[in-house]
Amino acid sequence: MKEEGFQKRSEEKLVKKSYNCGKCNDTGWILAPQEHSAPIAISCSCRELDRIKTDWERSGIKTEQSNLTFSNFCIWNESSGRAKDIALAYYKDFNSIRRTRKNSILFCGQVGSGKSHLSIALALNFLRKNVKVVYMPYRDAIMKIKQNIMDDEYYQKIISKYQLAEVLLIDDLFKGKISESDISIIFEILNYRYLNNLPIIVSTECVVDKLLYIDEAIGSRIYEMSKDYIMEIGKGKENNYRLR
Ligand SMILES: Nc1ncnc2c1ncn2[C@@H]1O[C@H](COP(=O)(O)OP(=O)(O)OP(=O)(O)O)[C@@H](O)[C@H]1O
Ligand SMILES: [Mg+2]
Ligand SMILES: [Zn+2]
Repeated sequence: MKEEGFQKRSEEKLVKKSYNCGKCNDTGWILAPQEHSAPIAISCSCRELDRIKTDWERSGIKTEQSNLTFSNFCIWNESSGRAKDIALAYYKDFNSIRRTRKNSILFCGQVGSGKSHLSIALALNFLRKNVKVVYMPYRDAIMKIKQNIMDDEYYQKIISKYQLAEVLLIDDLFKGKISESDISIIFEILNYRYLNNLPIIVSTECVVDKLLYIDEAIGSRIYEMSKDYIMEIGKGKENNYRLR
């Protein structure tokens, strides 16, 4: 009896020590049999998942944001339907427009209408397609940059991360009080991307007129870049998903 118990426990141990990926035994490779030659090694799908996970961590998107997908975005009124259509059209067109000036998308207007949700849904899809997105949560990012404005090296490093990203997602742009230095930091990032035709995804409570009013140089660049994919969500509680 004692013996049996011991055997059972060591079997359990063996099972626990098994591989994360049963397909490739964690080697990353699978041998694919060939009809007329020796088997060839092909990359296992778990490697792809690892890559997505790493890219995701690098992007700055948090785990709790992983449920902000297109399939979790329901069409519950006219404007949510339109917003989703524009987001999906942008995703579909991305490869053919990405190197042009008009390669960006803007979700603006009503609070709680799903602007951040759709922006992140796009980012998650891009990451899956190996397009490296960098997530810039506007308020936190700008605060961090300003706290380190005296540290030249850090400042340059963080600004270049946002300037050079394959796709930059600026979430909740101009949320809260805006100072001159906020504007000049955003301009530095945005103008670089504008001049180099690098795409942005922007979510903001400010409608286009408000963006232009806050800073015409910034507003007009965002407008030009996202001209073909602007979703302005009408202000009104009827468009606030949180209050539905
Ligand atoms: N159509 C929708 N289907 C499912 N969930 C939604 C939808 N619209 C919004 N939500 C959810 O409602 C909450 C608010 O949405 P979100 O943060 O995207 O709004 P927002 O427009 O960015 O608001 P804010 O202006 O306050 O930043 C989120 O939890 C989001 O997942
Ligand atoms: Mg938001
Ligand atoms: Zn594997």
